[in-house]
Amino acid sequence: MLKVVLFTSVSLFMVSCPSMAWSHEQDKKGDYGFPAGLMSICPGSTKPALIPKGQLKYLSFVVQGNGRTRQKYNFWNARGIAKDPRVNFDKRTLIVAIGYLDSPNLPISAMFANEYEDRGYNVILVDNQRFATVHYHLATRLMRPVGKHVAEILVQLMEYGLDPSKLELLGFSLGCHTASFVAKHFQTMTGRNISTISALEPSGPCFRNLGPKHRLDAGDADFVQVIHTNIDGYGMATPMGHVDIYVNGGEYQPSDISLYPCTTTCSHFRVLPLWVSALKNPKKFVAIKCRDIQQARDSDCYGNSPMEPIFMGIGIDKTERGIYYLATSMEYPFFLGAKGLKEEYVYWKRLTNINNGHEIEIYT
Ligand SMILES: *[C@@H]1O[C@H](CO)[C@@H](O)[C@H](O)[C@H]1NC(C)=O
Repeated sequence: MLKVVLFTSVSLFMVSCPSMAWSHEQDKKGDYGFPAGLMSICPGSTKPALIPKGQLKYLSFVVQGNGRTRQKYNFWNARGIAKDPRVNFDKRTLIVAIGYLDSPNLPISAMFANEYEDRGYNVILVDNQRFATVHYHLATRLMRPVGKHVAEILVQLMEYGLDPSKLELLGFSLGCHTASFVAKHFQTMTGRNISTISALEPSGPCFRNLGPKHRLDAGDADFVQVIHTNIDGYGMATPMGHVDIYVNGGEYQPSDISLYPCTTTCSHFRVLPLWVSALKNPKKFVAIKCRDIQQARDSDCYGNSPMEPIFMGIGIDKTERGIYYLATSMEYPFFLGAKGLKEEYVYWKRLTNINNGHEIEIYT
């Protein structure tokens, strides 16, 4: 009797709410994630946006080099970067695009600036704090003119020897799309490509339903590497690069605090220590190729044959294409090395298995 009642109410519930059928199917979110991940549509987000001339002085560039020293330039005197003693255009140049509410004075930029300076790069941090510290919806639109004006400066610097084939963009979250807009405008202005974009957790809110013209895309540079750590929350599921790496499936990251999950914010920011660790440990983050995002979500790519591994990081094989799964450990430095090729080290799978077992439940 109870069964019948339950069954009836369950079917009624399913009729009124068909998308919530109780089956394994509820785990299948398709290649592009939930149709509506966090803030999937922001009305008006493709409307033109511009930065008035009088405000361009707030777009600045912080050059770091010569043993952690810094010099700031603004849009109007940015040509001076070419003459800066910290800069030598024979070397590779890194442009860092900050995330929402961030600033080059905060630790994230400093962390990256130091790592790349130590690796012999010219480091230029784009300070668009003024335009990234407004209502998020507006910030997403303002990153387009920010990208355009940054590209204008790069074109100026080319006159002094900046070589786009030695130019790399690094973005985190909203900054990934800023990097994309820089690269898109650079293509329009010069007909040439920036060499690489490393996109750390491109932000999904306001972008996840936009087409490639309005967000990061593989067409933006010679090589685009995308790392995903929170695809239905602050990040975005859509593949946007030549290589897209879904860390531990891309949705949530393992927690370093026992029994306490690492949810959206924690997973979104996890990409930062991961990238730093990948800079320090170039051949330790072994990602393996997947057929599609669903396979990556399910950490189910170990049966693919041949198994096609790549190393995540700036040394990645730029001839590779596709969707990759990366397993990590639970704590910094996060890499698994060769264990990354073995399914038994997949933390996420073990967690899922907790629900698949038939053990007696223990209540304490
Ligand atoms: C720029 O990069 C895109 C994507 O990698 C590529 O399709 C295009 O041919 C490149 N353009 C040039 C001028 O190299």
